[in-house]
Amino acid sequence: MAVIAAFLSLILRLLITTSEIDGVPQDKQLGDSCFWELDNTMGRCEIDSKCVVLHEAIRARKLKIDDIPTCGYFSANSPEMVCCPTVPKELRFPYLASLQYVGPLHDDFVFRCTAIILSSKQLLTTSICVGSKERENPNSVVLGVSDMRGHIDEKLTFQLKTNAMQINNDVVLFDLHTDINFKDQSMKNVSMATLCYENELTEQSRLYAVGFAQNEATNCGLFKLRLERLSDCRVPELSRPVTGINTNATHICVRAMPETSPRLDGCKNCLTATSSVLHVERSDGSLCVAGIATPTTDECTVNSESTLYTIFVKIGFKNACGQFVLPDGPTYRNNND
Ligand SMILES: *[C@@H]1O[C@H](CO)[C@@H](O)[C@H](O)[C@H]1NC(C)=O
Ligand SMILES: *[C@@H]1O[C@H](CO)[C@@H](O)[C@H](O)[C@H]1NC(C)=O
Repeated sequence: MAVIAAFLSLILRLLITTSEIDGVPQDKQLGDSCFWELDNTMGRCEIDSKCVVLHEAIRARKLKIDDIPTCGYFSANSPEMVCCPTVPKELRFPYLASLQYVGPLHDDFVFRCTAIILSSKQLLTTSICVGSKERENPNSVVLGVSDMRGHIDEKLTFQLKTNAMQINNDVVLFDLHTDINFKDQSMKNVSMATLCYENELTEQSRLYAVGFAQNEATNCGLFKLRLERLSDCRVPELSRPVTGINTNATHICVRAMPETSPRLDGCKNCLTATSSVLHVERSDGSLCVAGIATPTTDECTVNSESTLYTIFVKIGFKNACGQFVLPDGPTYRNNND
């Protein structure tokens, strides 16, 4: 099969090279930028044997040879170049945690939701991440790990209390059984989230979604996607009765922009189902947390769709010191309540 595919692509390449327009070669040079149509992302032309990411992805059977865009040959007898995906740097978000659930076999566990560390005692996520059945409720949370596929130090696993507090069927607050000691050596990669101030979320803000990607078969690592704000929002059809939506004061509507590097590991960057976290880039380049994906659907919808985020930069979610406080007034509720 691979031989036939290679043969066909050779024929195709010969046809393309011999049909050069005005003597401009169709083959690219090393380092030229190239495009992955499969997932609309960019890469750089590289000698096939040097593109380690691709070889790993093929070995793990996440990718077929035919999926890989070629860059041709930079000289008559050079080896073939492929479009080598740009590998994103390891993402580190020490205030984001991954919720742990009992797995389908009951003796394993899975990760599938993102939570925000608000204090040494409390985490916030959305109501998608909790349910009425045992398997729908996280029993613990892993802190300070950006990819859930590796070995996880048990010191980084914290048990959750069962008295999770739901607010408007939208966000959920969890208490930890044991407080986090941020000064402890083992908590080096763990911190509290910096919430944005109200004036930091403006029409012009550069926005990002960050969360743990999702996959049916394995656990995943973090993703970060640039978002653009939509002024004309079609509120997605709600499969959950979240209250208070439709007011600009508590929710904003965005859409993910195309990704800059392909995801070859089979994990999906679902904005809503992973409870991704809304970030604002400040003028100094740092990020602050402005909200979390509103739990409108459990489905993994990726990109292009309009997505709602519940914002908590408003008065009532933060006190003057920037600490999170419970929404206690009408600030959070729908005006019609
Ligand atoms: C912190 O993160 C780095 C990079 O992932 C890792 O090498 C290191 O072991 C982590 N430290 C702790 C204490 O978990
Ligand atoms: C909500 O915000 C959008 C974009 O900022 C704006 O176009 C729209 O008019 C606002 N809607 C209301 C009801 O204020």
